[in-house]
Amino acid sequence: MIYVTGDIHGSIDIRKLDKNKVTEKITKDDYLIICGDFGLVWNYKKEDSKERKWLKWLNNRPWTTLFVDGNHECFPRLNSFPVKEWHGGRVHEIRPKVLHLMRGEIFEIDGNTIFAMGGASSHDRGPVVGDTEVVRGKSWWPEEIPSDEERAFGFNNLEAHGFKVDYIITHCLPNTFQGYIKQGTFPNDLLTEYFDYVNEMTTYKHWYTGHYHVNVDITNKLSVLFSRIVPIGGNVAQAELIMGIPKYRLGETVMVMHDGEPCMGRIEKLHPFGPTIFKNDEPYYDVAVYCEEFPDVIERVKETAILEKSLMG
Ligand SMILES: [Fe+2]
Repeated sequence: MIYVTGDIHGSIDIRKLDKNKVTEKITKDDYLIICGDFGLVWNYKKEDSKERKWLKWLNNRPWTTLFVDGNHECFPRLNSFPVKEWHGGRVHEIRPKVLHLMRGEIFEIDGNTIFAMGGASSHDRGPVVGDTEVVRGKSWWPEEIPSDEERAFGFNNLEAHGFKVDYIITHCLPNTFQGYIKQGTFPNDLLTEYFDYVNEMTTYKHWYTGHYHVNVDITNKLSVLFSRIVPIGGNVAQAELIMGIPKYRLGETVMVMHDGEPCMGRIEKLHPFGPTIFKNDEPYYDVAVYCEEFPDVIERVKETAILEKSLMG
């Protein structure tokens, strides 16, 4: 079985992989794919003790961890790991059971073909915020966007497979769909344009991305993942809850029932472990509903009571 999840950012968001209803089911025959912002090859000088500790931890999990790169990776170091042929494509072997799926490769895993193409534009650093020279080579690298050669390699590889794969794993979305995330705050670039083309040309069962730090099904075959861990082929709506990792974030707009009617609201407060600190429960939220005459805050709304909705049909 193959499982997919979103960014882990090194030690920052890795706890979602530890002791929960999903990962305790994952066995030594299984794979867990991280959709970029792996972040455990991050220090620009050399592997530090934190990276070593968490890479050891990952390598000691029952499953094999696979990842595409995101924008938060130290690319010169990532690209210096040994390259190996693995399940029909090339990987960087970070550890024997922690493998980087190289850009443009198509892997065959458990009878599924998987197209991998990492990379994304940093929206929080680098040229976007005008401090390129300060951060270049330390926490931002121009290689975050795949080169012309890498994009062409991926496209030719898809063509060689008749533009048909089972699954696509990337860090960012095609142009067409990126605008639906966070009110269009992520600018389009060469890669999102390229993914538009890939999306038009390729037949696939499901496409998974990370990058946007939300869990949402954009269409019935395109899901953005962050904290959720889904069996490949599944989507966010079917994903298991993970205690302490709220699906929604502060300020996010959600839909809740209010006076018997579905109503849009804004998340005002998070209770990640439930309504009291004494009981490990599902996440709860205080939601300020957008009611014209009587603005109201509904306290302690269960995560499962928030109405799931796809952004597109
Ligand atoms: Fe990220």
